[in-house]
Amino acid sequence: MQIDHQRLRAVCRAIVAATGSTGEEPDIVANHLVEANLKGHDSHGLGMLPRYVGLFNRGLLTPNQTVEIVADAPPILHVDGRHGYGQAVARQAMLLAVDRARAGGACILSLRNCNHIGRVGTYGEMAVDAGLASLHFVNATGHVPRVAPYGGSDARLPTNPMVIAIPTADDKRPFVLDMATAAIAMGKVRVAKNKGETVEGDLLLDPQGRPTTDPNVMFRRPIGALRAFGLHKGYGISLACELLAGAFSGGGTIQPERQAPDTIVNNMFALVFDPARLADPGWSKPEIDKVVAYVTGSPPADPSAPVLIAGDPERAMHAERTAKGVPVDPTTWEEILAAGETLGLARGDIERMAA
Ligand SMILES: NC(=O)c1ccc[n+]([C@@H]2O[C@H](COP(=O)([O-])OP(=O)(O)OC[C@H]3O[C@@H](n4cnc5c(N)ncnc54)[C@H](O)[C@@H]3O)[C@@H](O)[C@H]2O)c1
Repeated sequence: MQIDHQRLRAVCRAIVAATGSTGEEPDIVANHLVEANLKGHDSHGLGMLPRYVGLFNRGLLTPNQTVEIVADAPPILHVDGRHGYGQAVARQAMLLAVDRARAGGACILSLRNCNHIGRVGTYGEMAVDAGLASLHFVNATGHVPRVAPYGGSDARLPTNPMVIAIPTADDKRPFVLDMATAAIAMGKVRVAKNKGETVEGDLLLDPQGRPTTDPNVMFRRPIGALRAFGLHKGYGISLACELLAGAFSGGGTIQPERQAPDTIVNNMFALVFDPARLADPGWSKPEIDKVVAYVTGSPPADPSAPVLIAGDPERAMHAERTAKGVPVDPTTWEEILAAGETLGLARGDIERMAA
């Protein structure tokens, strides 16, 4: 079914509020999730909410957290998310980092102990919306790894995402590279499994380390593995996420002591900086404009698919889904209704909010 994004925001808000979340937090979490859907990243949209409710019910997610400042000594800002809703505590941390980068030119943000922070591009967009640029490296602990190291045969790494966000000459078209370091997102493997399809392209390994196209290997124990993107290079970036985000934040890495209790804890290393302190925007903006026009002016290999920059696909999808509604599959919808019930929300009430 297709659901209007405003109605989905209301559903998400109600469910988050039913976990005891107050103030602006239900809105922040709901808006983050629905914006991910609008931008085409359903794997990080409202379909995550049942997982968050499960974590809350198990005492692993604590609503209404204010980040704890561990160290604030420019250019360093070290922050603890206290296992709050990741979308809310990571946003608080980024607002602080943006303030410091505006004042001092740059901020190195180290953030630890957040529940799942969602679509990481959101934080890059916060930087570019403030006229800044940012780099983000994220790791994840508290669950079994899913990505095999290059040359390895079993999963030893999470799908560790990274983001590079840079303002361009066009305020409405920033460069926002936002990507998991796995060759394929777990959400896409789940879709293939639910549809009974195979996953082509040498992207999966079975538990014995043999290439397979069967998505079910990622949903059984022992688990199979996803390959990292880009062979040894993607593997290198994935491990860099562990080192930068996990080791220096104090949140920890995916080594075997940190693979339980089936939760999602994110840590993030970010560099937020003011590009105007490096190059006069009067020079750099036209330069960026020219290089973007030059690169995207390459004759398309497929005449129906023009050359894009990172961030373009999300903007196009956002426009389309804002107009037409967000597709929500029956399995995800049922999980949302069931999650609401565990918090005392009647199915009929949630269905009415969405209708
Ligand atoms: N919180 C976490 O622990 C976690 C973990 C993994 C992934 N994620 C999130 O999952 C989401 C999905 O990641 P993904 O790797 O599947 O994304 P993806 O492969 O869909 O896109 C990756 C990047 O490529 C760009 N892109 C796509 N098509 C393009 C084209 N034709 N030309 C130019 N650029 C193009 C996109 O704009 C995006 O910046 C991300 O938002 C990420 O932050 C979060």
